[in-house]
Amino acid sequence: MKIILTGCAGFIGFHLAKKYLEMNYTVIGIDNLNSYYSKKLKKDRLNQLFEHPKKRNFIFHKVSIDNFKALKKIFIKHKPPIVVNLAAQAGVRHSLKKPLDYVKSNLIGFSNILVLSKEFRVKHFIYASTSSVYGNSKKNILAETDNVDHPIQFYAATKRSNELMAHAYSSLYNLPTTGLRFFTVYGPWGRPDMALFLFTKNMLNNRPIYVFNNGNHIRDFTFVDDIVDGIYKVTKKKFIKINKKNDPSESFCPFRILNIGNNNPIPLMRYIKVLESELGVKSKKFFKPLQKGDVKNTNASIKKIKNLYSYNPNTEIEKGIKKFVNWYREYFNV
Ligand SMILES: NC(=O)c1ccc[n+]([C@@H]2O[C@H](COP(=O)([O-])OP(=O)(O)OC[C@H]3O[C@@H](n4cnc5c(N)ncnc54)[C@H](O)[C@@H]3O)[C@@H](O)[C@H]2O)c1
Repeated sequence: MKIILTGCAGFIGFHLAKKYLEMNYTVIGIDNLNSYYSKKLKKDRLNQLFEHPKKRNFIFHKVSIDNFKALKKIFIKHKPPIVVNLAAQAGVRHSLKKPLDYVKSNLIGFSNILVLSKEFRVKHFIYASTSSVYGNSKKNILAETDNVDHPIQFYAATKRSNELMAHAYSSLYNLPTTGLRFFTVYGPWGRPDMALFLFTKNMLNNRPIYVFNNGNHIRDFTFVDDIVDGIYKVTKKKFIKINKKNDPSESFCPFRILNIGNNNPIPLMRYIKVLESELGVKSKKFFKPLQKGDVKNTNASIKKIKNLYSYNPNTEIEKGIKKFVNWYREYFNV
């Protein structure tokens, strides 16, 4: 089975590419290796794929998804039956400073992939959305049936737009699409702009950590292997329409939205405690107010993905943070 995977040098894309290779897929990886964060980290992830025992099944194209011509050449060459689009400008805070980065990758880039998926009659188009689309929901558990029309930052607005664009194409052209709303993903080879990485770096360098919302955040932290397992299950199974009237995460056409989270929300202060005990370092905390655009609490309802795909996340934060710290110490030699 051949698959086009965009964002393959990114945190989640790299882990997913490894999984596909292990399961004997041929992975056509696309990434522009942009400088949003360390290019070295992205190249080192790629090197792991180039050295994988199934490396023959990994083909890499350094291409930006906003370049339609270059993308089309890749589609012509490989004619993929499945496309997984993870390439995006991620990050909530960056979207306050550089909103146009999100237009380029998340709107233009996404549209290019969608148009080509239709043109090449892709059997299933899977793409990354985010828990941020739920905005400041007052609900304790966030479900796919909730209204998500009130994003509180631009990143979420572009991701919600992706879901709507996908719906239009599912409806117009019968293109099977699944949007996956990931909930705060963490783990080895993680993103340097995310809390776990920043906290670990500062704590090991005896520097203070910045704790936003005065430490009152609650997050449904999800270990990267559990996310990858969910994406893999969605990839493996043929898209089958279910009839659910009045469910905006299903439709009359082959369109689907799924949460992938842990359904086990953890207070940020507890997350920090586990990290402290794993590092053997007591953190010096600078408490800060809620940042503009930050969502306060997240907790994923995962009933839908459990029912449809037997998804079963099972990594406790103690285990997940330990794996991250072990990787961090080895990678940075500390
Ligand atoms: N990590 C999380 O907690 C989280 C949560 C919700 C949603 N997501 C979404 O999951 C996806 C993967 O996230 P991640 O954490 O691995 O982020 P990441 O930044 O590590 O990975 C994204 C990759 O896409 C590449 N990329 C960006 N723009 C591109 C373009 N125009 N053309 C080609 N490549 C491009 C980047 O170079 C990077 O390697 C993203 O769509 C993100 O929005 C992530």
